[in-house]
Amino acid sequence: MSAAMLALEGVTKTFMAGTPNAVAALDRLDLALAAGDFVTVIGSNGAGKSTMLRAIVGLVEPEQGSIRLDGADITHEKVHRRAGAIGRIAQDPHESTCAVMSIEENLAMAAKRGQRRGLARAVTPALRERLRTELAAIGLGLEARLDARVGTLSGGQRQALALLMATLARPKLLLLDEHLASLDPKTAEAVMQLTDRLVREGALTTLMVTHNMHEAIRWGNRLVMMHAGRVVLDVAGADKAGLTVPGLVERFHEVSRETLSDDRVLLA
Ligand SMILES: Nc1ncnc2c1ncn2[C@@H]1O[C@H](COP(=O)(O)OP(=O)(O)O)[C@@H](O)[C@H]1O
Ligand SMILES: [Mg+2]
Repeated sequence: MSAAMLALEGVTKTFMAGTPNAVAALDRLDLALAAGDFVTVIGSNGAGKSTMLRAIVGLVEPEQGSIRLDGADITHEKVHRRAGAIGRIAQDPHESTCAVMSIEENLAMAAKRGQRRGLARAVTPALRERLRTELAAIGLGLEARLDARVGTLSGGQRQALALLMATLARPKLLLLDEHLASLDPKTAEAVMQLTDRLVREGALTTLMVTHNMHEAIRWGNRLVMMHAGRVVLDVAGADKAGLTVPGLVERFHEVSRETLSDDRVLLA
């Protein structure tokens, strides 16, 4: 049996610990991903989805538990030390790309992520050719605009670029936090198709948070539901293929033993 690519064991994070406003965002969270798993993650607002991804990249430090990536304990490793191994698109598109830098500079930074600082902005002719090829492949005409500032791109172009940046350095893990949420349906579909292609081509182990249950059922090989900082449902393979949105809402009610005050937060 091969070891997990990602293993979270007993990961606990309490915000404002010791105050009356303490929030147990992650509560002894266990989750393991095999290499090549493409896991969609759903759960109501505040379930701990973003906190889990932020703990994996190192922006949140758990007070208990461990996070292992490809066998190495990264629980307390600094963000930049693990950046080369993990590609992430944050919920806020401004966190994933740099608006005042050009497309080329953004991609060059991404291609060299995890490497020594200093010459990060320098682009060799070979790298420029590779960037052009990668950009042409996503079909948005960006290969002719390498010098354009990223701030001038549309939301969809920017998320497509962020995806390319996140996957360019062949990370061990790709983390997507509602990366389609701010896009119109047509653009979201195009960016999701690109996501699926990049994940398949790179055989990337992926966690994709979405608030859209249809997307969660349609994509990936495994679906995880979080509630109150823990995984409450984990469905893969043929069981996942048989999921329906009403079925998922019902499972949520069974597993969490509570009725949501408003199902729309899950169905949106
Ligand atoms: N930096 C923070 N400070 C205080 N509370 C936070 C912080 N980040 C998240 N939380 C709280 O932790 C809980 C989980 O948040 P989050 O992981 O963003 O949930 P989700 O992404 O599933 O909606 C929520 O109650 C949220 O308000
Ligand atoms: Mg979130």
